[in-house]
Amino acid sequence: MRRADPELLGVIGHPIAHSLSPAIHAAAARAEGRRFAYHAFDVEPAALAAAIGGLVVLGARGVNVTVPHKVAAAALVDRLEPEARATRSVNTITIEDDGTLTGATSDVEGVLTSVRDDLGLEVGGLRVVVVGAGGAARATVYALLQAGAASVGILARDVARAAELARSLGGSVVTAHDDGAAADLVVQATSVGMAGGPDPAGSAVPDWLLDRAGAVLDLVYRPSVTPLLEAARRRGLPAANGLTMLAAQARGSYRRWFGDAPSLSVFVGAAREAAAEG
Ligand SMILES: NC(=O)c1ccc[n+]([C@@H]2O[C@H](COP(=O)([O-])OP(=O)(O)OC[C@H]3O[C@@H](n4cnc5c(N)ncnc54)[C@H](OP(=O)(O)O)[C@@H]3O)[C@@H](O)[C@H]2O)c1
Repeated sequence: MRRADPELLGVIGHPIAHSLSPAIHAAAARAEGRRFAYHAFDVEPAALAAAIGGLVVLGARGVNVTVPHKVAAAALVDRLEPEARATRSVNTITIEDDGTLTGATSDVEGVLTSVRDDLGLEVGGLRVVVVGAGGAARATVYALLQAGAASVGILARDVARAAELARSLGGSVVTAHDDGAAADLVVQATSVGMAGGPDPAGSAVPDWLLDRAGAVLDLVYRPSVTPLLEAARRRGLPAANGLTMLAAQARGSYRRWFGDAPSLSVFVGAAREAAAEG
């Protein structure tokens, strides 16, 4: 296939206007002196396959895929990396030289990077409770179990969805006031607390769980301090938002497209700057 010149990349989502990914990848390209164009594409679910097919025809290098397309994208690629196959989620598509598509999820390395760098925690032996049962929760449960967490509990308003997650990836369902739910770390993986989300002023982590938490990671990154993070900090708990995860998953995508990537600090710096600009 003939590649677009300069190289063409982007992120497909719906909505997508507030994505920080174009700014993050532009900063990485500058740091490496690499030339490419990275666009945000607003694509409705019914048009996802056509959009990806169009990018192949245009000679794009690859594309990020975000809400609500991550699961659908997994069915549209020719090959899945093991993490994407296990989590049934694709956030990175690489268009190979022969036009075939490889799907990956860099959310897995993203969440592990944040636990290590933001909170200074070793995952091995950690008791974790993940709140939520959507795509980000799936990546988180998989990542933590693969990295050797001692236990991963799943707390979600939809208990059947939590049970399905536990059945397919491991971990166990946690229900309200579950005394067994000790949590060295609580990972908030719902869209509650997110600006523009279903409940921006709320928190999906109940007080009884926060009472027994050793640290909190909220995967939401907009706003930078969510109601949950405020509550965690009031209790003196180590707490972080989803910005480092966002930066680390962007670096994982970049590496898949170009074989190498600038240091994580370039991506984190760009993510912070883009988030501050709103
Ligand atoms: N930092 C990063 O790099 C990164 C990466 C991925 C995602 N995220 C963030 O993680 C969050 C979830 O993303 P996702 O891709 O997992 O979305 P998703 O697949 O749509 O899942 C959303 C989850 O939130 C739950 N939820 C929604 N409204 C709720 C409410 N009012 N009360 C309780 N639970 C509620 C859903 O429960 P039901 O199943 O019952 O609807 C579901 O479990 C988003 O805020 C996203 O920005 C961050």
